[in-house]
Amino acid sequence: MISSLSARRAFLRFLACGPLAARAMAQESTPAIASATDALNVMDFEPLAHKALPPAHWGYMATGVDDDVTLRMNREAMGHYQLRARRLTGVAKADLRTEVFGVSWDMPIYVSAVGHQKQFHAQGELATARAAKAQKTIQMLSTVTTISVEDVAKALGTAPWYQLYMPSSWEETEKMVRRVEAAGCSVLAWTIDNLAGRNTETATRLARTDTRDCLSCHVVHPIGGSVAQRNRTKPMFAGLSGEMNPVGADWSYVDRLKKMTKLKLVLKGIDTGEDARLALEHGVDGVVVSNHGGRAAETGRGTMDILPEVVDAVGGQIPVFIDGGFRRGTDVFKALAIGARAVGIGRPYIWGLSAFGQAGVERVLEILRAELALTMRQCGVASVAQITQASILKNGVKL
Ligand SMILES: Cc1cc2nc3c(=O)[nH]c(=O)nc-3n(C[C@H](O)[C@H](O)[C@H](O)COP(=O)(O)O)c2cc1C
Repeated sequence: MISSLSARRAFLRFLACGPLAARAMAQESTPAIASATDALNVMDFEPLAHKALPPAHWGYMATGVDDDVTLRMNREAMGHYQLRARRLTGVAKADLRTEVFGVSWDMPIYVSAVGHQKQFHAQGELATARAAKAQKTIQMLSTVTTISVEDVAKALGTAPWYQLYMPSSWEETEKMVRRVEAAGCSVLAWTIDNLAGRNTETATRLARTDTRDCLSCHVVHPIGGSVAQRNRTKPMFAGLSGEMNPVGADWSYVDRLKKMTKLKLVLKGIDTGEDARLALEHGVDGVVVSNHGGRAAETGRGTMDILPEVVDAVGGQIPVFIDGGFRRGTDVFKALAIGARAVGIGRPYIWGLSAFGQAGVERVLEILRAELALTMRQCGVASVAQITQASILKNGVKL
């Protein structure tokens, strides 16, 4: 009896001194984050965003689909890969520059399309644009933006990539594409992972707890209104019906869109090697491995587990981008090592935007940049071009 009691005490003492306890204690004793520069990692912004947002807006941002399994898998998949750190490599400085469609990027991290940003901050997509400009990165602007592509281009200092939710008729699609071309955009990223529809339960549950009239903070659909009604309040649907995401779309739509425009066409939402091969066959210029941040099909794989088969399928002929669950520089490094050209982030910069506006988005980008540079030095890689599969393992095995 005595020995079992003392063993239990020893075990509790062990737990109390263990790394998990140390981490919990460090988090508890961290002083409140009063400004964006106080944040030590991008996750620090999440609870601040939660506090800053009304429940319906938080629900829209945090939601996955059904039981949020795909959402969780995006994070879990990062843990399936390990780094192979190298020593005494003499790498003192990491060069983060990369090239995409003939354009030099300052770092291989971009802000992905997130709709309705005035839900998160009064300056919405303008604050994101100013932060992207300050951090010299690329902004992918959502079709359901609350600020027009023309105004975002002014704030960004260059036209953003335009994320397309395809209007339901070809006539309206052409109107939208011409407008985006006139604004100076060079890349059209057509999101194809939500054409079948989706079930965003978390968002619906939280919206029911929050009956505030959103018109006081941003323009959105009346409660119970249709998607088309809501879209008509958005600048990119001016003069259009608001109907979008044709459910019957197939690969012939890709051909027709390709013919319609000289913009680079990227497909956002590729989740299999088969579809990546089809994208190549249909002349697409790039693909984004994405499951819409776990907001499209449920019980899917984390995007990092999909990336290798997509990289294999395209065989270096077109760039492969990826998003979903990227929260650390190590995550970004692993994707680049598998063969991604660049990594998109969604929720992390929206947490920053919700908590501190432009300064929050800037800090999120700054942290990820610094973490990526640190990881590159630890793995003895001096430039993005030199990051290869030799730097990582999947479940302990070389790729
Ligand atoms: C609140 C929210 C809104 C989004 N809106 C869009 C959108 O309008 N168009 C789009 O293609 N993707 C949209 N996405 C998906 C993101 O572009 C990206 O694929 C995803 O957020 C990446 O996962 P992460 O949030 O874990 O970084 C949205 C994501 C979130 C969280």
